[in-house]
Formats: sequence, structure tokens, C-alpha cells
Amino acid sequence: MMDWPELEAACQNCRNCSLHETRTNVVFGVGSRTAEVLFIGEGPGENEDLQGEPFVGRGGQLLDQMMGAIGLQRKDVYIANIVKCRPPHNRDPLNTEEDACIGYLRNQVALLKPKIIVCLGRIAAMRVIGPDFKISRDHGKWYDKNGTQTMALFHPAALLRDPRRKPETFLDLKALQSKILEICDHTPIAD
Ligand code: URA
Repeated sequence: MMDWPELEAACQNCRNCSLHETRTNVVFGVGSRTAEVLFIGEGPGENEDLQGEPFVGRGGQLLDQMMGAIGLQRKDVYIANIVKCRPPHNRDPLNTEEDACIGYLRNQVALLKPKIIVCLGRIAAMRVIGPDFKISRDHGKWYDKNGTQTMALFHPAALLRDPRRKPETFLDLKALQSKILEICDHTPIAD
């Protein structure tokens, strides 16, 4: 296992898959390295690739609003992605690309030891929770993954495309808020 500086350097220099050929920036992750809550997205989009930071586009603004609805701020959590480099034209990452990259996320999880993992969208949920995960059916449900309480929300980009999913997402956020109040020690949250 690498420590944070080693891991970030390895990731910045990574050539494990062909996504390195088309990236502008590696999007390693942001937030508190002592966070108790880890959000996991799919992979960088155009804005993230340009800025080197996850969730900085329109979807990112919505993610900030979603967290804000329960009093969570970006600085109080950690945000990472399944793949650290942008898939061209924002296509879904290939299985081979996920496999090439997942070791970085595993190392991030091992360093962070989060109490709670929140998957953003189906790609992250299928990788982290299980291949049979159905986002429309299973969003908001809690899973114990090696002792870490894990759930998935609709992806912010999906909510931008289909705002009818927002009311149920609000209920999922309230469930997340309850879980944070129940098991986290130092995560500031609305109550
Ligand atoms: N969508 C994601 O899944 N991750 C990002 O970082 C940005 C958009």
C-alpha cells in the first residue's frame, strides 16, 4: 500500500490504460484525507479533465446542492472516481479501464478508512456494491461492504437529465444524513 503522496504521484504518472493518451489532467480526488464519508463517481468529464478536479461542471454544482441539503460541505468529505482519466466523449469507462484503475481507488479507501461510501450513479455502484446493482431499484439502500456502510444515489448528471428523480433522491439524502448522525464522529452535518 502507498501513502497519500506516493499514491498521488503514481496516479499522476499512470500509463496503465490508453486513457492516459487523451487526458489533459489526471483527476485523483479532492477533499479531506481524514473524511469519514467518501463519494465515488464514475470518471472525469470535460471540465474535470481540464481542471484536474472531480465534479466541477454542472453536475458538480448539483452535487454541492445535494450535499448542502443535509448540511454537508465538500471540504468535509472526500470525492473520487472509479477511473481517474476522462473517457473520450464521456463514454462509459470500459471494464479494462476500470480494472486498470481500480487499484488506486482501493488504495484511497485503505488510506481513508471511510465509515460511509456513497456511490454516485450506476457505474460506481455496480463496481463498488455489486454487478447486479440496479440504480432505479437499489438507490438509497444500505449495504455492508467489509464493515463500511455503502449506498448509491442517482448520479447528478442523471438528475439533470431527469429531474423527476429528485424527490426520491432527497429521501436518500435524508437517509444518508441519519446514517452520518448515527455512526460518524466528526463529520459536520445538519440535524
Ligand atoms: N461525473 C463523474 O462521475 N465524476 C466526475 O468527477 C465528474 C462528473
